[in-house]
Formats: sequence, structure tokens, C-alpha cells
Amino acid sequence: MHGLLAQKRVLLIIGGGIAAYKTPELIRQLKAAGADVRCVLTAGGAQFVTPLTLGSVSGEKVYESLFDLTDEAEMGHIRLSREADIVLVAPATADLIGKMAQGLANDLASTALLATDKPVMIAPAMNVQMWAHPATQRNMQTLQQDGIAVIGPETGDMACGETGPGRMSEPADIAAAIIAQIGPHTQRLAGKTALVTAGPTHEPIDPVRYIANRSSGKQGYAIAEALAALGAKTVLVSGPTHLTPPAQVTLEKVETAREMLAACEAYLPSDIAVMTAAVADWRSTNSTQSKIKKQAGNTPPALELTENPDILAHLAKHNQRPHLLVGFAAETDNIIEHAQAKLARKGCDWIVANDVSPETGVMGGGENTVHLIDAQGHEAWDKMSKAQVARQLADKMAAYFDNQDAAE
Ligand code: C5P
Repeated sequence: MHGLLAQKRVLLIIGGGIAAYKTPELIRQLKAAGADVRCVLTAGGAQFVTPLTLGSVSGEKVYESLFDLTDEAEMGHIRLSREADIVLVAPATADLIGKMAQGLANDLASTALLATDKPVMIAPAMNVQMWAHPATQRNMQTLQQDGIAVIGPETGDMACGETGPGRMSEPADIAAAIIAQIGPHTQRLAGKTALVTAGPTHEPIDPVRYIANRSSGKQGYAIAEALAALGAKTVLVSGPTHLTPPAQVTLEKVETAREMLAACEAYLPSDIAVMTAAVADWRSTNSTQSKIKKQAGNTPPALELTENPDILAHLAKHNQRPHLLVGFAAETDNIIEHAQAKLARKGCDWIVANDVSPETGVMGGGENTVHLIDAQGHEAWDKMSKAQVARQLADKMAAYFDNQDAAE
């Protein structure tokens, strides 16, 4: 990441949440990439991290008050927000998000956010219920319509003792997202098209019941984001998830495997296709239009299952086969052998095999340990965040197309 943010200035607005404790590390990472970082600390933020810490790490004055005569004389809020190349809000609390959505401006942070003419990115962090609240979700929709980029939140254990979506993204991932937004745009996949599937599928049994699985969709969403960041025109075909779709990606929402297949076929031809979705293997043979009634004394209805189409295998044999077709394989043992067999069976070019043995915590978690397998061999990657796996995979694809172009 060295030098990727050279000459760039980040205005970091720190909201009042416990995740503020991660901001000195975030500043360190941004500075390591070459950025200058100037902080605006809200009154709430100052309860969690001190101006002295932020000033020491950033090496710059920390701005706290809108009505501070010296600050306004030295650097008005308008200049503060305009001199930056990007404004980053981390942590973005429910309160700050609400203020941004409404256009309120009653302190230095909200005023700078309203006055800026630069791209804005937010890293939300809050309690699970606060995040899920319709008011917050409504505000988030407004911010996305306003073109504000969002990173996270991640799902996991929270300081408040609850578990679910609401954790602020890790500093390394936020720094990478900033680089993707304002760093040198090598756009190594510019001119290429990419198709990504993600999430589970839901297979109806009747209008209220369905067969599903525990896929979160995180890895697929991260891959779509990473491909789009390299300039690929990216379509994300997603089963039901709770994730915020990445900016600059066309989202096609589907429920069933058959809908997912149809959506994928509609976007062919495609240079790249990455099938991360955990497609249900089976669907109910006769899903009914009316709810199946429980009847006292009767034996429960038998669920008869039919095999779903294998989207990856189908695309591999398609007359508009994607040029680089990548599948995923979740394995617990003999990872390489099983993945090599899957590569041959499915007819794809690469398999990304995840080690999903229970001790890895990969299912639903933020990290992944993967092997990349192709017809020539395999590579073991270190344990890293799903966002990093996605970026490394996108880089590999860019290198693959560079080689192809060089060979032509
Ligand atoms: O067969 P298995 O589910 O282990 O293979 C996993 C790979 O195949 C993943 O890339 C997944 O997205 C894809 N797949 C698919 N359609 C299916 C089943 C799996 O595209 N019906």
C-alpha cells in the first residue's frame, strides 16, 4: 500500500462510538499509504479517543469545535472540508448518519459534511438493533442515493455484548477502500465485464416456508466490489442477504437457483464469472401456492426434492462460456484433492477452495483461508479478511488478462 495515497489528504470525522478506539490505527494505516490525515473529533468521539492521541498519530492539529475562534480564523469548516480529497466518517454512528441524511449541521463534523464538495465515505458502527432499525436503514438508503460510499458494517461480536451486523470494518479494509476510491486508478480490468453470484438461494416449499442455508454473501459481495474497483463492469447476482450492495455494481436480486441461473444467462457474454453463491442443491418438487396446513393427528407431509441446476457447470458448457470462469469450493479435509476433482467435474478454470473446518470460523465470519487451484497447480494463501481475498483474486485476474493480452 506504500505511496498509494501520496499527496492525498483525508479528512477523518470521528463519531461517538466505541469503535473510535480503532481510529488511531486507521490513521496509522492511511499515513503508511502516504496520506495526510486531518481529524475532526465530535463531542461523542472525544469520550472514546483523546485529541492528544489523534494529534500525535496524525501529526496535525485536531479540530473539535465549530465555534472556536482560533480554529475558524486559522481554518474555517468550509476550507477544512474542501482541502481534503475525501471525507471519511469512522465510526459513523446512527446519530451522524441521521444528521447526514437530513442535512443537519449543528456541530463541526456535520457542518463540514454539508459543506464538502469531495467524495464522502462512511464506516458505520453501532449496536445491532440500532443498525437494523428502519430509521437507520431509511437514512442509509438516502445516503446511498446521495452517492455516499459505505464500507461495512461487519457482522460479529460487539462491545455491547450482542452479535450481528454493526461492527466497524477493520482499519486495513477501510484504508484499502480509501485507496480504491482516491488512489491511483490503474483500472487493470477496464473494458472487461464480470458476473458474480453471491449469497444463498431460497427454495420455496409453500408461500411461507423455504429451504435455505447459512451463506452470508460476504465473500461474493467483496469480490464484486474488488472487480468493480479495478474497472470491470460488474453485475452481482445475489440471493437474499442482509448486505449493503457495493457502489458501482449492478445488483440483480434473486431468490431461487433457477432465477439465479436465468439472471446469469441474461448477462452473458462476460469476460469473468465468479460463482460464490451457495446455491441450494435441491428444491421442493411441488412447491404449493397455498400454505400447507398442519392437521392434528396427521403425519407430517413428505418433502420431495428435485435437483437444482448447477449454475457453474451450466455456464462452463454454455455456448457463451465466460472467458475466465471461477468456482468456489467449501472443504473440510483433503482440500486440494477435492478442489482439483471439482475443477475437472465442473469444467471451470479456477477453484477458490476455502477451508471451512469449524476451527477456521469462516462461515459467516470476516476472514477466510483459501487455496487457489487451476489445471497447473495450486497456491495456498495466508489467512486474511474476505475483502483482502477478494482484492488478491481480482489482482490475479488482472494479471491473467495482462498475460493473455501480451500473448496475443
Ligand atoms: O458442488 P458444490 O456446491 O460444492 O460447488 C460449489 C461451486 O459451484 C460454487 O462455485 C457454487 O457457486 C457453484 N454452484 C452453482 N450451482 C449449484 C451448485 C453450486 O453454481 N447448483
